[in-house]
Amino acid sequence: MIPRDTIQSIIDTARIDEVVGDFVQLKKRGVNLLGLCPFHNEKTPSFTVSPAKGIYKCFGCGKAGNAVNFVMEHEKYSYPEALRYLANKYGIEVEEQEPSPEEKQLDTERDSLFSLNAFAQKFYSQILHDTDEGKAIGLSYFIERGFREDIIQKFQLGFSPVAWDAFTQHALKNGYAEKYLIDSGLTISKEGKLYDRFRERVMFPIHNLTGKVIGFGGRILTSDKNKPKYVNSPESEVYNKSKSLYGIWLARNAIVGKDNCYLVEGYTDVISLHQSGIENVVASSGTSLTTDQIRLISKYTHNITILYDGDPAGIKASFRGIDMILEQGMNVKIVLFPDGEDPDSYARKHRSADVEAFISTTANDFIAFKTRLLLDETQNDPIKKAALIHEIIETISIIPDPIIRPLYVRECSEIMGIAEQTLMNELNRLIRKKAQKGGVSPQISEEVPQQPVIAPPQEPVLDVSDCSAQELDVIRVLLHYAGRTLKFEQPGNEPDETITFEVGAAEYVCNDLRANQIEFDNPVMRKIFEAYAEGVDGKTLPDDRFFLMHPEPEVADLAINIITQKYELSPGWEEIKIYVPVETDKLEDTVSRAVLSLMHRKLSAMIFHNQKIMKELSSESEAWSDHLSRDIHLKQARNEISRRLGRILNG
Ligand code: CTP
Ligand code: MN
Repeated sequence: MIPRDTIQSIIDTARIDEVVGDFVQLKKRGVNLLGLCPFHNEKTPSFTVSPAKGIYKCFGCGKAGNAVNFVMEHEKYSYPEALRYLANKYGIEVEEQEPSPEEKQLDTERDSLFSLNAFAQKFYSQILHDTDEGKAIGLSYFIERGFREDIIQKFQLGFSPVAWDAFTQHALKNGYAEKYLIDSGLTISKEGKLYDRFRERVMFPIHNLTGKVIGFGGRILTSDKNKPKYVNSPESEVYNKSKSLYGIWLARNAIVGKDNCYLVEGYTDVISLHQSGIENVVASSGTSLTTDQIRLISKYTHNITILYDGDPAGIKASFRGIDMILEQGMNVKIVLFPDGEDPDSYARKHRSADVEAFISTTANDFIAFKTRLLLDETQNDPIKKAALIHEIIETISIIPDPIIRPLYVRECSEIMGIAEQTLMNELNRLIRKKAQKGGVSPQISEEVPQQPVIAPPQEPVLDVSDCSAQELDVIRVLLHYAGRTLKFEQPGNEPDETITFEVGAAEYVCNDLRANQIEFDNPVMRKIFEAYAEGVDGKTLPDDRFFLMHPEPEVADLAINIITQKYELSPGWEEIKIYVPVETDKLEDTVSRAVLSLMHRKLSAMIFHNQKIMKELSSESEAWSDHLSRDIHLKQARNEISRRLGRILNG
């Protein structure tokens, strides 16, 4: 744990131009600096750094952040890792805070498991190379499979002895506690006896991102049908199966370099491809891919190529899992290996260059691939074809980027021989339906002119107790306009007389909401609101930097997102007039609308909550009539707000 004031001083010291400058060549452009974006491929620079604000923003890919975010994004560091990096760069001493007893306990547990797994890996490797049984059974198997010695070393392969408890006894003798032996799964305790989980198997250690051993897979060498082909370590404090990918520690640099990740099924596929010089490869190890695993890959690339050895039936079964990858905004390609081959066997039979060439020429875009595969099955059966359209459109609708979706619609329309417009209508209908379910406004692509929707619009199911959109808008208004002055007009005492009064935007927002006892539900937004409210009381408002450099990353992230939006239309970062003309032309309306909308929503939530209580009460009771008068009171207040909102909306 890094103490809070150290975090603050790291953030205050780090200069965005210097931090970015270590990785990106920057040229001065007015008050800002400009360079080629390190986060996407570009030829003309659109990556802008503002030393004044302490942030960067790429107008090409939209990535934005402060110095800490830059290091996290560029070096794939966690928040504390990025802080330590910056502390080191600027010679700031980091005294780590004493962890709590629970944290200490967890740390000891994790450290012990890492150390035990490393110990086990060395043991199994030693058995493989230095013992008769290891050499005769394990090593000869690997050699027969064609694994080279350097590859066996690189993957730290091993062999577990035939004896029942060879490893357990060896570990106990070396001072490893029984508890950790059992927690790691290396040892099984049954009826008071300890024995090894892995016996007479070739051993594949599984590593985390930084190369520490977190578990093992052990492959059987006999053809005993009663025993499983693989035995794997169970989950532990250090091994979370759904978050691990076999081979990731050796692949990460190559994945970034190639901007692509090959996904295979098993340990041996990863190893054989490495032997062929292909290193951007990971395995999901027999299970279907999880969201966490996809996120892990997406830290390094947005392109996944799945190398399949399955038959069409097996591939169809995995379509659902692939949709999940698309949902994360990744591009997915598929390579189908010839009958009976898998990446491992193919790599063993062909020269390295041929393996690369085969993969790159066979790779098919997933959606086109799926369309063709399903189309083959419809054989001009119109009902089947309708179902196919629906299924393909369903998949396209999952892609989060509204600009990419129409491109797929076009491609599929060509493959299926169906009018693009028909598919587009179906897509928009589906997206609208999903948006209504989720209570968010649909992002419909208008690439192809839309035809009227025939289905009647469904009443969206709204959760009235969720005020987050309105809270966000108030925070947005504060971050954009807090320092501005608003002019309001009021009728005076004389007829035709109007009195103008001026008030600071922050003062107006904060005082109005506080007077109405409105509190923010979202803790991050509440913090930002309170900082402004304090500023209003103390007559000095916090500036952009206060939020952009905030020691709490959630606060900084939200502020960066909102503040950089202000400059979206102006790559020079000057605030130019054309930015959302309606919004700044009549700033008074923008600010009041945000405040009133939040109050309106909060009142709706209160009314809803109050009515829920009334339903539980008997209408004879005194409490019920109390709630009834509250209901009337709240509704009156809401009507008043509606009236004021209506005046703004109708000009
Ligand atoms: N797997 C497993 N348990 C099993 C079978 C398979 O955990 N009983 C996982 C392993 O991670 C394995 C992957 O699924 O690597 C793919 O299975 P398979 O193709 O059967 O194994 P390979 O490793 O390819 O082994 P081989 O080529 O030697 O048959
Ligand atoms: Mn195999």
